[in-house]
Amino acid sequence: MTSSLFRRKPIVTEPREGEHVLARTLSWPHLMALGVGAIVGTGILTLIGVGADKAGPAVIVSFAVAGLICACAALAYAEMATVIPASGSAYTYSYVVIGELVAWIIGWSLILEYTLVVSAVAVGWSGYAAPLLGQWAGVPMALMQGPELGGIVNLPAIAIIGVVAGMLMLGTRESATVNAILVLVKIAALIVFVAVTFPYFDATNFEPFSPYGFPKSLGPDGVERGVMAAAAIIFFAFYGFDAIATAAEETRNPDRDLKIGIVGSMVACVVIYMAVAAAAIGAISYTRFADSPEPLALILRELGQPLAAQYLAASAVIALPTVILAFFYGQSRIFFTMARDGMLPASLAKVSSRGTPVRITLFTAAIVAVLAGIVPLGELAALANAGTLAAFSAVALCMLILRRRAPDTPRPFRTPAPWLVGGVAILGCAYLFFSLPTQTQLWFGIWNVAGLAVYFLYGRQRAIAAG
Ligand code: ALA
Repeated sequence: MTSSLFRRKPIVTEPREGEHVLARTLSWPHLMALGVGAIVGTGILTLIGVGADKAGPAVIVSFAVAGLICACAALAYAEMATVIPASGSAYTYSYVVIGELVAWIIGWSLILEYTLVVSAVAVGWSGYAAPLLGQWAGVPMALMQGPELGGIVNLPAIAIIGVVAGMLMLGTRESATVNAILVLVKIAALIVFVAVTFPYFDATNFEPFSPYGFPKSLGPDGVERGVMAAAAIIFFAFYGFDAIATAAEETRNPDRDLKIGIVGSMVACVVIYMAVAAAAIGAISYTRFADSPEPLALILRELGQPLAAQYLAASAVIALPTVILAFFYGQSRIFFTMARDGMLPASLAKVSSRGTPVRITLFTAAIVAVLAGIVPLGELAALANAGTLAAFSAVALCMLILRRRAPDTPRPFRTPAPWLVGGVAILGCAYLFFSLPTQTQLWFGIWNVAGLAVYFLYGRQRAIAAG
């Protein structure tokens, strides 16, 4: 009876007869564009303010800590993606390596991650779009911000979710060319930000450097702060590289290309993010942009650079929807894989004649739109991070278990120093998880209790029946 909880799927490395094999057309520059395209988004553009509020100028250290942990998880991800090149990512790896119950928990965590990232990036997009919409279309601010910022509902966030959901239902996929152009738009905007703010750099803005200390601690105002509390939020800025891992089947030379693609895009992001963070903090006191919905544009305006501010906002408005698209699409893939295993109702993952799961897209759109309309960005990002941290530590654990259990399985990509990298990923993710707001940890617990109820009342019996 209990043995089914630990049932594992077999490793299938060779495509079955008749199974579609993807053409090996991608090389490391494509992978880096794919990675940077899905990674650079609301994290650097908006959560930098939330992070500065929690860590002060030491938010730069938070970026480095979160980036290091994420890079280690990314390496483990790359190895697993080449050993088990099947859809479902962390959920599928856990099903193959650990067993059904853990796979369920991770799948359920991924659903949380993808759902909330869509909401969070939509809110971040709205932060930059709202002033432009106010200026050009006269939309009142109360309809463009959630209640925590004094508004009623965040209509632009809801609207962009509707647009992206519509595109997905029409069968839009991330196009490599469009993605590459938008990556350039994003990177150019961040470089312009650094270049314009650099002459205003004032080292006194870095003092005191770490007003709230390193570990998470509760302040007199009831807010949890510290370098690690900020790192737990800033972590949001670094993920999205799973987009590269899922392209493992399509790379020409997986060992070399995945290594350069994943490590390269992580290093590129860490360097760009730290430069942006240093420029932002050096430009004006962090207290002036900490709670802004569009901190980087606000900094430029405060420095008397309104044109640069508009350019940056316009770039964000143009480029951020691809991040929403990538995660929205990922969400439907997870649902699809879990439904195929019998864990979720197959009717939800039903694919239309255009090859898109319309029902799940509509269902997800309704939920993410409500969340984006009223929940503050920091809370959405924190809970999305909780789900991601669970998934990343599971992937690193799978990598280590498989090294032990099946040392001779072909590994087109091998994580260097696996025990060190895997250990940093697992312990780092755990430390980040405990640095999240206590309320977020509670919500994550509630989400998992609900998930386990669904599993024992529905998923388990169906999964057994699906064999
Ligand atoms: N890393 C992505 C972002 O910051 C999710 O928007």
